[in-house]
Amino acid sequence: MKTILLLPFLLFPFFSQAEKPYFAPEELITVGAFYYPEHWAEDQWERDIKNMADLGLEVVHMGEFSWAALEPEEGVYDFAWLDTAVELAEENGLKVILCSTTATPPAWLSTKHPEILRVNEDGNRLAHGRRQQASFSSDFYREYSLGMIEKLAERYGDNPTVIGWQLDNEPKGTVDYSENATERFRDWLEEKYGTIDALNEAWGTSFWSMTYNNFDQITLPRISLGMNNPHHHLDHDRFMAHETASHLALQAETIRQHASEDQWITTNFENDRGDADPWLSKDLDFVSYTTYMAHAYNMGIGEEGYRRGMPHHIVRATDFYRPIGGVTGIMELQPGQINWSRVANPLLEPGVVRMWLWHVYAAGNDFALTYRFRQPVFGSEMYHYGIMDPDGVTPSYSGIDFSTFSKEIQQLRGEYDPDHEQNEEYLSRKTGILVNRDNRWRQERRPLSNEWDYYELVFDHYYPVVKSFAAPVDFIDEEKDFADYPVIIAPAYQLLDEELVEKWREYVAQGGHLVIGPRSGQMNRDGQLWQARRSEPILDLIGAEIFAFDIIPSPEDGLVEFDGGSYAWNIWGDILEPMEGTETWATYETSFYEGMAAVTHRELGEGTVTYIGPYSDNAALEKAVLRRVYLQAGIAIEDLPEGMMMEYRDGFGIAVNYSDQEYEVPAPENAEFIFGDRNIDSLGVSVWK
Ligand code: GAL
Repeated sequence: MKTILLLPFLLFPFFSQAEKPYFAPEELITVGAFYYPEHWAEDQWERDIKNMADLGLEVVHMGEFSWAALEPEEGVYDFAWLDTAVELAEENGLKVILCSTTATPPAWLSTKHPEILRVNEDGNRLAHGRRQQASFSSDFYREYSLGMIEKLAERYGDNPTVIGWQLDNEPKGTVDYSENATERFRDWLEEKYGTIDALNEAWGTSFWSMTYNNFDQITLPRISLGMNNPHHHLDHDRFMAHETASHLALQAETIRQHASEDQWITTNFENDRGDADPWLSKDLDFVSYTTYMAHAYNMGIGEEGYRRGMPHHIVRATDFYRPIGGVTGIMELQPGQINWSRVANPLLEPGVVRMWLWHVYAAGNDFALTYRFRQPVFGSEMYHYGIMDPDGVTPSYSGIDFSTFSKEIQQLRGEYDPDHEQNEEYLSRKTGILVNRDNRWRQERRPLSNEWDYYELVFDHYYPVVKSFAAPVDFIDEEKDFADYPVIIAPAYQLLDEELVEKWREYVAQGGHLVIGPRSGQMNRDGQLWQARRSEPILDLIGAEIFAFDIIPSPEDGLVEFDGGSYAWNIWGDILEPMEGTETWATYETSFYEGMAAVTHRELGEGTVTYIGPYSDNAALEKAVLRRVYLQAGIAIEDLPEGMMMEYRDGFGIAVNYSDQEYEVPAPENAEFIFGDRNIDSLGVSVWK
């Protein structure tokens, strides 16, 4: 077998962020915009950059997608235009974020080396004339792009105007069916398993005569054809994420060799839905993200909620990415209509962008950038709003909110007290939601029901419930110190091992409150069931056995009784048999297993373990059960009305209101309001100290 350069297979072992405060606390948050000088006549650059500064923007993001302008011919570099743009930024007091340009290789490169282009599952190679057509599984592309990145880093690595780097654009798992990718997959597997026998065992290849004699026989799973070996599939998902992460790691390493200590390196993962594995990118200084709020893929809440977006989306993405490196920022927030919705393209409600920006701040971001400063007049994104209309000089009615917000933040900086106190009550509710990609991949590939949706369960079901308690939330991986979280929720934690169960046990013994959701503990890390009782490793911990699970076809529902209320479910129900000492909190009310346990709860050491068997229709059951868990644990929680979101940071309380109703903010009696007041109207923002 050919050996190729492989990065260490497992999680990258370190992350460098936490020690370096890249963003001064007293700045609170930095506001900026994407700008593509190469799209506009050079005599407009000065005017545009000055306009940014006049509008209160503090950072400009440039160089993304500009490889063809930076290296117009092989080995011929042209940095003059970017030098000018960076100088103009500096002259106008703006800082700069630069990018690696790996999302858009130039035409000459693809023509000379078509092997850099990704091959689809059907065998077709992508072609020049789009973006993200190159493969992170192409050895040549990896190497060549690092050369380009090195030139950029040499040029701007010690430029004090440049504060940081974004790698690639919205990196996803690397989907590539080329020969090169296949070979890399084989090498990756060999490094993971060592011997083909070990792989055969992990993949259960005696099933359907799939046994491999050697690694060279292994191909990439043809996903669209179905009937794949699920263990093969799972490793392929892991491999695709690894390809992306390992190339980002190499990019970061290349930049770091030339970058000053103060420059940070990040990437902008796609909201919290993308199929990359962000925990593999812990060796970036931090990870940031993009989030598009209004595009009619969701309807928001209340009348015309589609003009405002879902109340939990900004904070959810922040809570997802911030815990990875301890810092995050939103790299792209729309300033108006977008161009890509296939559903509809609603105008934004006036003022909504200002409210989003306040929510971005409240959620704990250190920067907020908009995609983009100017609306383009050519190319694929012509109908994408910018802060500026197509004339280049008239601020769009919603883009101008970036300016309003920036000016309000400047005012708030004057109120900032570096010795401010923490809001202890808020922190006492701190909740960790334990997630990993294996569970998601495994369940997305093999849902067992057309309605099972891991993502919906964790991110749209459990998460908003916890946010309605006004709890700070971190999405966490297994490496985190669980002791930082009074409550940890692990929904649909299907794949696990004894080590994790032991870590849970210790966490609970020392006073943690662990809530495990349906479909947990069923499999080992290879995705194989235990040759034992169902979910064997967790049974002693939850203090119950799992008799079976049920899935009921819609529109039929099952019912569960909890605390005098009746709750509908049908997507999944684990039916529990409590052991001695375990309380039954909820029981099934329907079907032949009527009267059996649906939710169990037990004390263990200083803490508690709750198992929630059903995936309810509307999260009402989960909300009722979680309320009891927090209240019994003595944790004071709020009950925020739908659409009101509230956080504390930097000594300020911040509430925003996505609903069409007016509400009262649950701020302390003695709160001193800086923006808004105790009554918060639709799209309102209240900030107090
Ligand atoms: C994002 C992408 C940007 C731009 C934007 C348009 O997903 O990262 O480059 O295409 O969409 O809304």
